[in-house]
This record gives sequence, structure tokens and C-alpha cells, in this order.
Amino acid sequence: MAGDLRDRGYSVCPGALPTALAGGLLAHLHSMSEARFTPAGVGREHGHTLNSFVRTDEICWINGESAAGRDWLAWTTALQQHLNRELLLGLFSFESHFAHYRPGDFYRKHVDAFRGEANRVLSVVAYLNPGWQTGDGGELRLYTGAEDSSLLSVQPLHGTVVVFLSEEFPHEVLPASRDRYSIAGWFRVNGSTADRVDPPR
Ligand code: OGA
Ligand code: MN
Repeated sequence: MAGDLRDRGYSVCPGALPTALAGGLLAHLHSMSEARFTPAGVGREHGHTLNSFVRTDEICWINGESAAGRDWLAWTTALQQHLNRELLLGLFSFESHFAHYRPGDFYRKHVDAFRGEANRVLSVVAYLNPGWQTGDGGELRLYTGAEDSSLLSVQPLHGTVVVFLSEEFPHEVLPASRDRYSIAGWFRVNGSTADRVDPPR
């Protein structure tokens, strides 16, 4: 993963999520009430709005309230330490949420961070969909920032982890014919100044 990031700025890793962790997260998802998921928004803090033209999925932030959530956060902390050691990225904090895309749901082409707003540096997505078939749709499609041409499509297979530099790769989630579960997360650098604490959450 570190080598891919260094060479290309992204990495697709089938089976990277440890089996026990993936199983625990899936069991937790199934035990969660639908009411814990809320329609996802677009933008940060005051710029945050609901926009069903852009995305229609529902999300639930992972705050370490469940054992499965804590295991996920421990795994991403280890990943953060590893990537900082290998690539000197200075990753400082992490935020992530479960996402549920119902049949037909989508997230149109977007970038996770904007250049110059040093916040989200590295995006990570993990998939929790046992038995996903090619015809089920729901691919994550990555584009190259420069020409904005299609780079690759990733099926949301159980245990697959994708990482990419947040500013560099526009991407979208295509509609699927069945329920699609993922975790999306972002490693951030410390953008704090004397009068502004960042990250706020
Ligand atoms: C996101 C996102 C991708 C996916 O939540 O920002 O791009 O495959 N998710 O779920
Ligand atoms: Mn995204």
C-alpha cells in the first residue's frame, strides 16, 4: 500500500481488511438500527448541506462507541503510523463513517479535499459486502485529476481497502442493484493555528 501510494498516489488492496475485523464490522452493521443512519451531506461545518443531486447514501459516524468501531479505529491508527513512518505524510487525525447505499443510491463525482485547504490528505474506503457479484454494480470509479479521465473501477468486495490522496483523485460511486455498505475515512494533517483549532471534530 505504501509503495503504491508513493508511486501512483492510490492503492487498491483486495482482502486487506483482517477477516475478524471485517466480520465484526459487518455484524455490528446488521445489529444497528436504521435510525442511527442519517442522510449524508456535502461540505464541511457551515458549508454543510444536504444535496440529493450529489449523493443519496446514509451515514453513521464511527466514534468508538462499539467494540467493532474501536477495532476499526485501532486498525486505522496502526495504518496511520505505518504510512507516516514509510512516507512521512504527517497524518495527524482520522474521521470515518459507515455508509449505506440502498439500491439505486449514488455519490456523483467529487473530490474529498480542496487544494490549499490543508485538511483531508488521505482517503480510505473499506467494503463490507460478502457475495458481491460483478453485475451488482456499485463500483467506485476513480479519475485522474489532470485530464479527469477514468482511471479504474473498483468493485465493493468484502474486505477490499482503497486508499488515495484526497486532493488528487476525483471519484464517484455508481448505483447498485442491492444494498451496499462501506466505511469512508480521511486522515488529516494538523491545520491548527493560534486562534483556530483544527480538526474540529
Ligand atoms: C465518500 C466516498 C466511496 C465509496 O464517502 O466520500 O467517496 O466507495 N465513498 O463508498
Ligand atoms: Mn469521496
